[in-house]
Amino acid sequence: MSGHGAALPMTSHKSGPLRGQADVPGDKSISHRSLILGALSLGETRIQGLLEGDDVLDTGKAMQAFGAEVINHGGGSWSVHGVGVGGFAEPDQVIDCGNSGTGVRLIMGAMATSPITATFTGDGSLNKRPMGRVTDPLALFGAQSHGRSEGRLPLTLIGAAQPLPVRYEVPMPSAQVKSAVLLAGLNAPGQTVVIEKEATRDHTERMLVGFGAELTVDETDAGRVITLTGQPELRPQDITVPRDPSSAAFPVCAALIVEGSEVLVPNIGLNPTRAGLFYSLQEMGADLTFENMREEGGEPVADLRAKYSPDMQGIEVPHERAASMIDEYPILSVVASFAQGVTRMHGVKELRVKESDRIEAMATGLRAAGVTVDEGPDWWHVHGQGGAVKGGALAATHLDHRIAMSFLILGMGATDGMSIDDGGPVATSFPIFEPLMTQLGASISRMAQ
Ligand code: S3P
Repeated sequence: MSGHGAALPMTSHKSGPLRGQADVPGDKSISHRSLILGALSLGETRIQGLLEGDDVLDTGKAMQAFGAEVINHGGGSWSVHGVGVGGFAEPDQVIDCGNSGTGVRLIMGAMATSPITATFTGDGSLNKRPMGRVTDPLALFGAQSHGRSEGRLPLTLIGAAQPLPVRYEVPMPSAQVKSAVLLAGLNAPGQTVVIEKEATRDHTERMLVGFGAELTVDETDAGRVITLTGQPELRPQDITVPRDPSSAAFPVCAALIVEGSEVLVPNIGLNPTRAGLFYSLQEMGADLTFENMREEGGEPVADLRAKYSPDMQGIEVPHERAASMIDEYPILSVVASFAQGVTRMHGVKELRVKESDRIEAMATGLRAAGVTVDEGPDWWHVHGQGGAVKGGALAATHLDHRIAMSFLILGMGATDGMSIDDGGPVATSFPIFEPLMTQLGASISRMAQ
């Protein structure tokens, strides 16, 4: 079952050359944060290029439920009239975050230090995911939570009436947990300190500074030490959301595995905390170039040009790179299936608690497509076929957009194409995936049930 309606089975067929330009939508992480930080500042934040995927739209609805005004002006242009730090109203309805772990975890953080109560729920995927990783540190501020077993959603969070600042070392590499603690720290007096041993995406830190918060980052032997001074007055911003490198990954990887392809994916942010996939692909020998490298809004940006690369080799993806490409392992495993030799990925147990258990979901579908995969709790190996992957199987997508898109891309290069049981979740992060890939030359069909 799809999160937002009936299941949508789809098949992608072996494709002729993919050619042209792929204009991918706005970054999902930055879109969520733009709405939430806009709601926490006083006045009007204007946003261009917001990702209009279901995950982000659910966060927009949630911000309205907490008292902000969120207006869609059309064409990716939105504005948020915020209520200020500590200004959230108590919602009079359950907050449904759909499929989005980022949405629910960041919003829980943002409300945890206000004297209000809210109940959160999500779809069949989100309601299985661990929330204790967020409610544990929020309890240190004084917030209380009552969820299902192991803190799962639906969950009620009672914000702290007299919050205390905290010092918290994030036990797993998670930008969502880090961000939830920082957003909670906004309405606590004094300094909240978050320590992360491994750097994860740093959009929250960058954007908090942009909105006028006092925040410093010290790189120490113990990791990144982030210090936030509480109770700032956040100033509304004009934000242009960069395009999403995690979405760019799909047309880029499709071009690498489909014979005769050449695709240009312009204006992609190459923030080092997000760009690990592209460096891994280059190490594999992919014909992937960064053109027109420049800085925009303090972030490195480039146009990516990807060409069919029949001679890619398997690589060892270093553990230290995992956080910078955590959402890209499913599509990397597809490329690895077409390469020569084994691609070894380790230090990736976080993949097991994403929208699905991504190691399990990819391993099962890849095996059905004729690819050998070995896996353990924290690692997996994909044995490249040295070119032709058979395909011709049906993969279960488990309400996971990245699993769905990865297998549709596999089908474009596979001898017998590839089917998925449900393409509905693609709309959470990349609603124009199907027309965009079709315009490049791919052939995707929707199957009648
Ligand atoms: C995200 C953080 C990552 C990532 C997710 C987006 C964010 O999750 O997988 O798609 O925007 O903070 P974790 O924090 O669970 O690693």
